[in-house]
Amino acid sequence: CKAHKIAVLPGDGIGPEITKVALELLQAAGEAEGETFQFEEALIGGAAIDATGQPFPDETLQTCRNSDSVLLAAIGGYKWDTLPAAQRPERGLLALRSSLNAFANLRPAVVLPQLAHASTLKPEVVEGVDILIVRELVGGIYFGTPRGFTTNDKGEKVGYNTMVYSESEVERIAHVAFDAAMKRKKRLCSVEKSNVLEVSQLWREVVTRVAKQYPEVELSHMYIDNAAMQMIRNPKEFDTIVTGNLFGDILSDEASMLTGSLGMLPSASISGAGPGVYEPVHGSAPDIAGKDLANPMAMVLSAAMMCRYGLALPQVAAKLEAAVTAALDAGYRTGDLMSPGMKQVGTRGLILLNGLILLLASNWV
Ligand code: NAD
Ligand code: IPM
Ligand code: MN
Repeated sequence: CKAHKIAVLPGDGIGPEITKVALELLQAAGEAEGETFQFEEALIGGAAIDATGQPFPDETLQTCRNSDSVLLAAIGGYKWDTLPAAQRPERGLLALRSSLNAFANLRPAVVLPQLAHASTLKPEVVEGVDILIVRELVGGIYFGTPRGFTTNDKGEKVGYNTMVYSESEVERIAHVAFDAAMKRKKRLCSVEKSNVLEVSQLWREVVTRVAKQYPEVELSHMYIDNAAMQMIRNPKEFDTIVTGNLFGDILSDEASMLTGSLGMLPSASISGAGPGVYEPVHGSAPDIAGKDLANPMAMVLSAAMMCRYGLALPQVAAKLEAAVTAALDAGYRTGDLMSPGMKQVGTRGLILLNGLILLLASNWV
């Protein structure tokens, strides 16, 4: 049968290390299910700046457009931190999302039973947490204009950005969120700052209007500051969350600590038409890059989301997820998840272990 074409963007820092794990597992899980993948690697972020002068070369865009899905690891690093904003690796990632119109970023934060004790919060607070953050990804303050630097009348330098959403931008992300909530516990919490910001007043108005088409979904509204607090106080009160680009970025890193580590959180960035981008929530972790310390699970679980949502291969997705849970069941942990009694392994160690575990898992799933 036809090979699934995957654009692979390893990026910077720990990106290449975790990509290697994900590709080996994908290959093995695919083989077990009679599916083949054709991986085409392309440059993005700092690696692309070094090679071509651009954080998102045209060639990379073409590779992505010609693929069924895009699997991205992470971009960024100290080396490029002093470049002007418009030339940074992060702009490459934003250009990728925007060029593919990947406006809906699904960020599930699920506390696996094996990791309830790995969180810095009490196990009884996090046990059973299953939150889906639906983050708008190609609008808001990340993309709003005007933006830039100017000088004020006192002669000081001033920096400014614009947080802007149109009705149609809020409508389409609201529909994604309500549809997702319908498949979950039918509870949606819209998070914004409408007590202060006009852009959030519009957000609340539009979400409330869209809600009329989903009478079965219980909609609530929460200000971002309160939501950040409630997520730590009692995360189980949340089912599905819909929010804008900046608030979703912050809330998803916060949610990762319920699950034990940022190294556990996968995501899918989709438009509904054309290839989606599947990427861990974490960054390039330059502090641990090249040290065989990175947790590859967020990346493996992102590959699983790609199989489930992008490629309609739920059996392959289930195999990858089973490999992750089997490694955890067997007591293997990377440093970010270590606790007494567990066996510490490196990123590469998990490749080998996961390979074996996947073989075993193929008999179980
Ligand atoms: P980060 O997510 O890279 O790291 C934050 C902390 O979490 C670090 O201590 C890191 O070691 C740890 N961590 C992250 N992923 C891990 C993993 N898989 N296993 C173990 N530990 C992990 O965020 P940062 O340090 O604020 O940013 C570093 C760079 O990454 C910056 O250039 C930033 O712009 C970029 N970044 C990129 C993405 C992306 O590509 N999607 C996301 C976030 C940040
Ligand atoms: C993320 C990252 C990116 C974002 C950065 C690197 C542009 O933090 O994917 O969460 O803010 O969206
Ligand atoms: Mn982020």
